[in-house]
Amino acid sequence: MTRIYLDHAATTHLRPEAAQAWIVAGQHVGNASSLHTSGRSARRIVEQARESIAEDLGVRPSAVIFTAGGTESNNLAIKGIFWARSADGGPRHIVTSAIEHHAVLDPVLWLRDHQDAEITFLDVDSTGKVSVDQLRSLLQAGDIALVSIMWANNEIGTIQPVQEISALCQEFGVPFHTDAVQAFGQINLDLVGLKATAVTLSSHKIGGPVGVGALIIDPHEKVVPVTHGGGQEREIRSGTLDPASVSAFAAASRLVTLSVDAHAQEMRDIQQYLVSSVEACVPEARLNGPAPGVARLPNNIHFSFPGCEGDSLLMLLDAAGIDCSTGSACTAGIPEPSHVLLAMGVDQKIARASLRFSLGRGSSKEDVDHLVTVLPNAVERAVRAGSV
Ligand SMILES: Cc1ncc(COP(=O)(O)O)c(C=O)c1O
Repeated sequence: MTRIYLDHAATTHLRPEAAQAWIVAGQHVGNASSLHTSGRSARRIVEQARESIAEDLGVRPSAVIFTAGGTESNNLAIKGIFWARSADGGPRHIVTSAIEHHAVLDPVLWLRDHQDAEITFLDVDSTGKVSVDQLRSLLQAGDIALVSIMWANNEIGTIQPVQEISALCQEFGVPFHTDAVQAFGQINLDLVGLKATAVTLSSHKIGGPVGVGALIIDPHEKVVPVTHGGGQEREIRSGTLDPASVSAFAAASRLVTLSVDAHAQEMRDIQQYLVSSVEACVPEARLNGPAPGVARLPNNIHFSFPGCEGDSLLMLLDAAGIDCSTGSACTAGIPEPSHVLLAMGVDQKIARASLRFSLGRGSSKEDVDHLVTVLPNAVERAVRAGSV
């Protein structure tokens, strides 16, 4: 059975150019911190990767801190900036949104539970968009240590007004961090215009290897390290640098940067086709998040199928050769409704009946045609299973 992969937002195929870069860089022996010739050649590979990613994003190479991925970058930005800003009686209030990825929500909640941080979660509307007015009022009230709002949501694809948010934060002198893991490679990231303090990126969402990412951070921003050791990355991140992984990440970054507009257009076309095909074959299906267009990631589609458990539907589609995802996390084997959908005001039952289809390189309208040949039957069986 040929499998149809519609879970590119979870992770996507390694690009051959990234694999090649990994193999070439991986041939070198030498620690990038060693002073001998082999060490210096490893260092050269790392610095070339840093310069290449910086050029793709229009930032200075010194702003690129390599990490082990999106989760680490978010932890470093949030804890590191909070610790630096709140030291010596500084502000302890963090503003974020209720629909962040757990790699933002959990560090923020940890700071609340263990370090006396005060957290405000911005409200979102029924499409998952945050309230900029609410943010303005909070900034006017003062004493904010950090604002962290994701560029685009991983479940329902909502693109946040990050330019407006960043400009507001700048006006009030408050650092702004954005998790751009899902946005990178899908839409144009104008980091020059954005002027955020810190931006999180992950390699495996753009066709690079898993386990590497970057935090793009203003070199003037004070950050307290989360991990302590050799201080390899500007003294704020420790650990032996991995020339093979960072150069594969740079290769993927260059590819997505050069093709982002054409890719977005191609994805939008398939996205629209998938939405209308699903609505035609399962009329009760309900699209969550913004309508396809400028407010939504071009590769994201998220439906609720009333009467189903998302997990049952996922397994039925899996048996029919289709890989997709639910937004929900399982706690002790019990499916939990997605915190994102609940924050948008979606009913618990409908929230549990959802699936995300995410497109990527290689996705086609034929994949959608195959999906809609098996979907109505899978939905019918999942509804029946749910009613017994
Ligand atoms: C929005 C978002 N942030 C952070 C992460 C975590 O990234 P990583 O897998 O590189 O740790 C993900 C991964 O799913 C994500 O979608």
